[in-house]
Parts: sequence; structure tokens; C-alpha cells
Amino acid sequence: MQIVKSVGEMQSVCRVLRASGAGLHSGIGFVATMGALHEGHLSLVRRARVECGAVVASIFVNPLQFAPGEDLATYPRTFAEDCARLEAEGVEVLFAPEVREMYPEGAATTVTVAGVGDRLDGASRPGHFTGVATVVAKLFHAVGPCRAYFGQKDAAQIAVLRRMVRDLNFEVELVACAIVRDADGLALSSRNQYLNAAERGQALVLRRALLEMERQIAGGVRESASLIEAGMAVLRGEAGVRVDYLAVVDADSLLPVDVVSTGTLVAVAAYVGKTRLIDNFLVAG
Ligand code: PAJ
Repeated sequence: MQIVKSVGEMQSVCRVLRASGAGLHSGIGFVATMGALHEGHLSLVRRARVECGAVVASIFVNPLQFAPGEDLATYPRTFAEDCARLEAEGVEVLFAPEVREMYPEGAATTVTVAGVGDRLDGASRPGHFTGVATVVAKLFHAVGPCRAYFGQKDAAQIAVLRRMVRDLNFEVELVACAIVRDADGLALSSRNQYLNAAERGQALVLRRALLEMERQIAGGVRESASLIEAGMAVLRGEAGVRVDYLAVVDADSLLPVDVVSTGTLVAVAAYVGKTRLIDNFLVAG
């Protein structure tokens, strides 16, 4: 696996990949990450491996998407293990730039997806999605035309990036991939490492609340207000968990809907101790 540190080198390496065999086999598959890789990240890599001629990944803990007081300084960094795992999955190229390479002195341009980027996590974490959209735009410019694999776990992030790709005409096909969970149902996240044993148990309430809402939808309940009340009742049962949002929204605009239909996004964010966790599901047809 080739490890590339500069944007310029990444652009030429990917140009060569596209011109070679990769171009004949559905092109480049790209997986963007902040490292501390787990099976959720690797599921994206594996899908890209199956569907694309070449797979490139990135590891970059993006300071722009962390607000002051968030966990930028303590975000888990496991670069050597991450490299070994990506290599074992057959990744051809890893882009791992330093902060000054991505944001050189004087960098002044950002990408803001107005509206969509201010909803759900964007409402709770002002500026977060401008940080995400800006870095992903830069990563897309480093990789070039590709299929880019993102996890449905970050459903709002997918909505923001889909809109950015459309609005700014990126030659990128976004592929949304299913949420990977631990055996007990907790969605995998690099931030799960922050949880102590008691919190790890409490965290399961997010999944329980969503499952209750899914059960009610399967039973014919359609009104968002009743579903949110049912989910909140489950969440309130776990002391130590502070709900940030429980929302029933259109999956593209992230605007609330009164009544669910196929593809509606049901999403939750909550603090378990100091750790902010998210989970969601899309209403089945
Ligand atoms: P990170 O949190 O490292 O996640 C990288 C990718 O892995 C994202 O597309 C995320 O949705 C996906 N992912 C994380 N946990 C998952 C799970 N349990 N199941 C399936 N996919 C999962 O998301 C980011 O990094 C950053 O915002 C980034 C896009 C890299 C921009 O900095």
C-alpha cells in the first residue's frame, strides 16, 4: 500500500490509477476516514474493493469539523494499526496528509451547504458540516472522479455531501453503506472507546428507542409525533443519557415530516456521560 502525504502527489497517483487497469473496472473507490478504524470503516473498504478497480482511503482528523471544546485533542489516533488493516483489505493507496498540507497558512475558503448543513447534527454542532463539506471537497479534488463510500450511520453527513456533490458538480458517485453494529446492537463508532463499562450498557438505549419506533411503524403508526413520544419514553428510561435530538425527517432535506413514508429518516443523537453518540434507520417500504 502506497502512503501519500501531499495533495499534488495524490492527484498524480490517482490520475495514473484511472488511466491504468482501474479505469477499465469501474474506476476508483474512495473511503474517507478520520482513522481509529473499526469494522464499520472496513465494511466501506470491502464494498469498494468488490465494486471498483482500485481502492483509495484517507485518514485525516479534520480540525475544521471539531468545535472548540470538542474532542479534537483526544480523538483516538491509531495510525500504525489502521495502515495494517487497510493493507490487509487490499487498499492500493492511503492518503494521510498533515494538517498544514490540507490547510496551509492563509487558507480562507470553505464549503457551506446552507439549510441541510444546519439541521440535526448541524444544529447541535454549528459549523460542523462546513468543516465536513470543506474537507471532503478537498479530498474529492485530491482523488478526482471516483465512487465514494460513506456510512449510513452518519445519515445527516450523507445528506450534506449528496447536496454538495450535486450543487458543485463533483464527478463523484456517493454510495451509502449500511450501519455496522456490535453483536448487542450498538452502532460501531470510534467514539465508543470513550465509554466506560456502565456507559457502554446505557448506550444501548439509543438502539432500543429506534427499534421501538420501527416496531410501531411496522404496526401501522405513521404520525411522527406519536413515534417520537414512544422513542422518548424509551430514552427517558435510561438515567445518565441526555437526548440531543430524536427526529423524523426527510432523508434529503433533513426537514421534519409529520407522517412517515418509505425512506423517511428516523435519527437520534444523545450524550452518554460526556460522549455524544448517534444512530438512525430509514423507514422500510
Ligand atoms: P469517520 O467518523 O472516521 O467515518 C468514516 C466513514 O465511516 C463515514 O462514512 C462513516 O459514516 C463511516 N462509518 C462510521 N461508523 C460506521 C458504522 N458503524 N457502520 C458503517 N459505516 C460507518 O465521517 C467521518 O469520519 C468524517 O466526517 C469524514 C467524512 C472522514 C470527513 O472528515
